Amino acid sequence: MVTMTQTTGSPNRKLSIVFLFFIIILLTTLFLSLISTFKSSDSVISLSRSKSTHTCICNTNNPPRLNLKSDPPVSTFYDDPNVGYTIDKPIKNWDEKRRHWLNLHPSFVGSNKQIFLVTGSQSKPCKNAKGDHFLLRFFKNKVDYCRIHGYDIFYNNVLLDPKMNNCWAKLSAVRASMVAHPEAEWIWWMDEDTVFTDMDFKVPLDRYKDRNFVVHGWPREVYEEKNWLGLNAGSFIIRNCQWSLDFLEKWADMGPQSKNREKWRKILMKTFNHEADDQTALAYLVLQEKEEQSNRIYIEMEYYLEGYWVVIADTLNNITDRYNEIGMKNEMLRRPHAELVSERYAELWEPYLKEAGYGYGSWRRPFVTHFAGCQPCSGDHNPSFSRQRCWKAMEKVLNYGDNQVLRNYGFTHPDLSDSTIVSPLPVY
Ligand SMILES: *[C@@H]1O[C@H](CO)[C@@H](O)[C@H](O)[C@H]1NC(C)=O
Repeated sequence: MVTMTQTTGSPNRKLSIVFLFFIIILLTTLFLSLISTFKSSDSVISLSRSKSTHTCICNTNNPPRLNLKSDPPVSTFYDDPNVGYTIDKPIKNWDEKRRHWLNLHPSFVGSNKQIFLVTGSQSKPCKNAKGDHFLLRFFKNKVDYCRIHGYDIFYNNVLLDPKMNNCWAKLSAVRASMVAHPEAEWIWWMDEDTVFTDMDFKVPLDRYKDRNFVVHGWPREVYEEKNWLGLNAGSFIIRNCQWSLDFLEKWADMGPQSKNREKWRKILMKTFNHEADDQTALAYLVLQEKEEQSNRIYIEMEYYLEGYWVVIADTLNNITDRYNEIGMKNEMLRRPHAELVSERYAELWEPYLKEAGYGYGSWRRPFVTHFAGCQPCSGDHNPSFSRQRCWKAMEKVLNYGDNQVLRNYGFTHPDLSDSTIVSPLPVY
């Protein structure tokens, strides 16, 4: 019996096991299909996303950070016939006018367009055969710096005020830029023969919170020795405000187009024993401002807002060695990365550069190198050094700056004296 039931019960049990198995499969299928219905909306998105990576990863829902298409039809200073772009047309209440414009264009407030860089050169071809080639490379260097930091740049090669020529032309370019760029808090003028030799360094704007004009120099030389060479007008930063408009007006009053030219020529000659040019004029205004104690001018000597090439050019090889030494030891610092995130890697370098200091005698990369006296365009260089020496140094300094750019494209100039040769970056 026992065996009977066992034998007769056996097919029944097999049947019920098959039935149970069937039920389980059915339930599982049902359950899975239910889950997939709930998830289907998600999976469609992830599918279309993975498809779209083949074309572009653009997100059209985000509004542009800067709204370049909005200009409300409200009258601003641009509609005021009394407001002009040239220094001979004084502007009143500029701070208020600028604020009004910014209120109408809120997307520019607090954007990274804090600095607007202005540079330029003469309208005609350079007299010196290599001049235009060098000017192009000086400009390329500035464009690269601006791209890396998201700044805008304007190259002016016309005399906006025909009577304010040569070194005075920068004043008209700066003034016109202030009116053209109310979004910019600072206008930064750089002479044509200046080179960024530290692509990472950023001007410490926080330091100038209460200042309106920043120029490189040695305060003691200017204020105590009354030396017009104690500062350099080749690179300066000026706040876009009423004070600065008035300052430019006073500065321009000493220029060749001024009816007071002769008076100022005598004063500047007496004060500095040098002819009236943009730099003696600036030095005079700096001294005057000190007397008035308005404290709006800052003579920066802690880093090279501009530095003399004669002092800098020979130090670059040693500086390169120091940076390479640090880079070798730190995988993160030499890690390849997209150019757009360069500022992140600049920050990573900071702790290693702390002890280097800045400026003269430092092994930190000099921020800006100025070829004062070399006159690359005219070729009328200062007789105290040869044309050959200027060319060699310009080549070296420009390649030094360019190496910091090329790095993000996987290449380097192995020899700073030869611009034509690049080699792929070594793989570590
Ligand atoms: C570069 O470094 C070497 C070795 O430390 C030193 O002898 C030389 O004077 C340095 N050159 C310059 C221009 O600083």
